[in-house]
Amino acid sequence: MTRRDLAVIVVAAGRGERLKASAPKAFVEVNGHTILEHSLAPISALAELAQVVIAAPATHLAEATEIANAVLATDAILDVVVGGDTRQQSIANALAVVGDEIEIVLVHDAARAFASSALFERVADAVRATSASVIPALEIADTIKRVSGDRVEETVDRSALRSAQTPQGFFASELKRAYANASDDFTDDAALMQSQGKKVSFVAGEVEAAKITTPEDLVGVLSRLNGPGRTGMGVDVHRFSADESKKLFLGTIEWPGLPGLDGHSDGDAVSHALVDALLSAAGLGDIGSNFGVDRPEFSGANGKVFLEETVRMLAAEGFSVVNASVQLVGNRPKVSGKRAEVEAALSAIVGAPVTLGATTTDGLGFLGNDEGVAAVASVLIIRLEDRLTS
Ligand code: CTP
Ligand code: MG
Repeated sequence: MTRRDLAVIVVAAGRGERLKASAPKAFVEVNGHTILEHSLAPISALAELAQVVIAAPATHLAEATEIANAVLATDAILDVVVGGDTRQQSIANALAVVGDEIEIVLVHDAARAFASSALFERVADAVRATSASVIPALEIADTIKRVSGDRVEETVDRSALRSAQTPQGFFASELKRAYANASDDFTDDAALMQSQGKKVSFVAGEVEAAKITTPEDLVGVLSRLNGPGRTGMGVDVHRFSADESKKLFLGTIEWPGLPGLDGHSDGDAVSHALVDALLSAAGLGDIGSNFGVDRPEFSGANGKVFLEETVRMLAAEGFSVVNASVQLVGNRPKVSGKRAEVEAALSAIVGAPVTLGATTTDGLGFLGNDEGVAAVASVLIIRLEDRLTS
């Protein structure tokens, strides 16, 4: 059994001014989980983990504690400390509670929320192997210029340059000593160590450990996590019923005073088109293959029943709906008076904005003859690739 001698400091006390969100950056949500939750996800499984220290804004100490308790599946000691005015000050506050038994400290930016466990392990292993401070670093893709005012002075040899990431790894005693002797404020701990003559080496960083700084970074992370969206479409048609006792249901709600629609269910073409659009976007077949007429439990069922089950099926496959749009085609009913009600009902079920439009066929065909109604729907869905939910 190896000794547990590793501590991870997660700095989450910044305001996130450049992100321009309504909460401090670590408490902004990505795919339904805060950046702090994402950044903690890879930490529980680290070998030899003995302590986790989070530096959080004074306003968010309770929230940070709650998040850490929920995400960290470990018996390691957890401390949440208040951050300071600068990143370095936040780390100084965290270091003050790092236990004496801790040999190696990894300092990590919560803003690098998608660093992998493997990166943490790589850095910790390299600290042990090289007996030095270790940072993850990436090669630079762009041609780099040194400038002065609006003038380009020179092109810098980028082969000798790297961009630094976190987690950065140190011997705890050396890092504590460097902090005790700090005379300046640095943007990373490697710079602080080097200002005091300590050797720092590097291992390969990873694109996933890029820092979320601006709104554009967040868009990049979301598209990397979720991939491109998937669209789907659906069409449904139902005939007006000769049975005068039948009520009209469209978009899950009742439209009093109009004839009902025939069908195995309640004939809600709007809901059924939407169900087909959702199923096709997810590659889950169609309404017939999932809720066929051979299923007596769906006889006469409200559109809500199909929609709720469809949304559950999509969620089980990791899909989330971005938005949906349905168009009713026919002379009746006129949707304008009930548009808001239908949109609210469908949006609540689908969990994303659903809009409703309508058109006629200029008197042509079975829709122009008032024989029935048709509906056309299109949706956009995304798959949430989320370490915390998958
Ligand atoms: N950080 C911190 N305490 C501070 C400043 C920053 O703990 N006083 C943390 C941030 O929470 C972040 C990491 O250091 O995880 C890197 O800092 P940065 O990306 O600059 O985050 P913010 O300072 O929050 O953002 P901004 O500079 O845009 O305000
Ligand atoms: Mg900052």
